[in-house]
Amino acid sequence: MDGHTFVAELDRKNHELLRRLAPAQALTAESGGDLSTTTLLRIALKNEIEASEIAALWMAAAGDIELKLGLARQAGDEAKHYRLIEERLRELGDNLAGFNPLGEGYSPLFNFLRGLPTDVERVAAGQFTREAIALVKNTQFIELCERAGDSPTARLYREVIQVDERFHHEMGAKFLSQLAFDAPSQALARAARSRTLELAEELQTLAYRKKKIHHAPGC
Ligand SMILES: [Fe+2]
Ligand SMILES: [Fe+2]
Repeated sequence: MDGHTFVAELDRKNHELLRRLAPAQALTAESGGDLSTTTLLRIALKNEIEASEIAALWMAAAGDIELKLGLARQAGDEAKHYRLIEERLRELGDNLAGFNPLGEGYSPLFNFLRGLPTDVERVAAGQFTREAIALVKNTQFIELCERAGDSPTARLYREVIQVDERFHHEMGAKFLSQLAFDAPSQALARAARSRTLELAEELQTLAYRKKKIHHAPGC
């Protein structure tokens, strides 16, 4: 199949899968854990710094100028998200003294993404799939903030961060339709996408088991 058909099919499959993530409404009741905005925003900082770093690494490795420029923009966007979230945490009274988002090391998802050897795998995993997951998680996070009466955080996510994350996902779809043009490249993309979904799910399960945290915002 051609690249566009391939991407449309993968997109449909991702949507189906991601719909199964529990809706935010169920969270508070189910988790009984720490769903405070500051806890979740600290996790968001780690996600944003990892997303920025991955985009920067991939910019250097990318085979074409358009992709390099797209990744450069993304690295900047994720760094901007980091700063905005940091600012919001300060407003919420968390001064972040001594906090290092990478203090416990990089996530398994980051290490997997860093090891991907080709542009087609990187775009399928990082922009196309990871950003689709982020869009779903952020929608849930926005709901959570709204129900907690925290409209400034909800607005930051709805009006700034989500707009960029959508752009990253769509950029992923555009490049993937060019890069996944034949059976071998499509097989690579499919495998990278599946592993990304698995790792995202493992991370979520782990966070839930260890800290009762569900649906931290993504990037
Ligand atoms: Fe992003
Ligand atoms: Fe982000």
